[in-house]
Amino acid sequence: MSRGRFITFEGIDGAGKSSHIEALAAWLRAQGQRVLTTREPGGTPLAEALRELLLHKPMDALTESLLVFAARRDHLATVIEPALAAGTTVLCDRFTDATFAYQGGGRGFDLAVLSQLEAWVQQGRQPDLTLWFDLDPHLAAQRRAAARAPDRFEAQEERFFERVRDGYAARAGAAAQRIVRIDGAAARDQVWSQVQACVQHLLGVAR
Ligand code: TYD
Repeated sequence: MSRGRFITFEGIDGAGKSSHIEALAAWLRAQGQRVLTTREPGGTPLAEALRELLLHKPMDALTESLLVFAARRDHLATVIEPALAAGTTVLCDRFTDATFAYQGGGRGFDLAVLSQLEAWVQQGRQPDLTLWFDLDPHLAAQRRAAARAPDRFEAQEERFFERVRDGYAARAGAAAQRIVRIDGAAARDQVWSQVQACVQHLLGVAR
């Protein structure tokens, strides 16, 4: 059996990735694929418990990074790797690029330490494709304000999200084969077409 594909979705809060993940899962299932949707931090009972702490308890950037990678270790070992091995396509709402963007870019935490944690926890595993929903932080803030009450990250000032965006841009620049920038300011159906085209290219599925 061939290994499943691992696709991740990234972007600053409010960039609009989440609704496209469900649409993509439905589209792929309609073509007969087995699909698992999951998220980070989270995706297992332990990782969801760590998510609650991360989103709501004050802590420094090292603690944040360790908790995020602890959650990721559990998620990879117990959910993602077994699903990929069984031939399932895994769609994950955020992964390690978010750690480089939020803890590295946003909080200014040491990227070399993050790279070490990444190597330890992932043992070489990387997404096959990452869709980066890129949006001006000012527009994203307006969308968030209309949508929901903020968590600890979403409550950050706009400058924080500019640094997060720069963090994503740096990751994308260093992994241009894997990370595709999606224009989050485009109309919703245009964004969806971009998502479909990227995934179709990866999977070789007919539209
Ligand atoms: P998010 O996935 O956007 O969930 P929701 O749509 O329910 O708000 O929220 C997760 C938050 O966690 C987001 O603000 C980014 C942050 N985060 C990190 O800081 N580092 C990470 O490594 C990950 C995966 C997320």
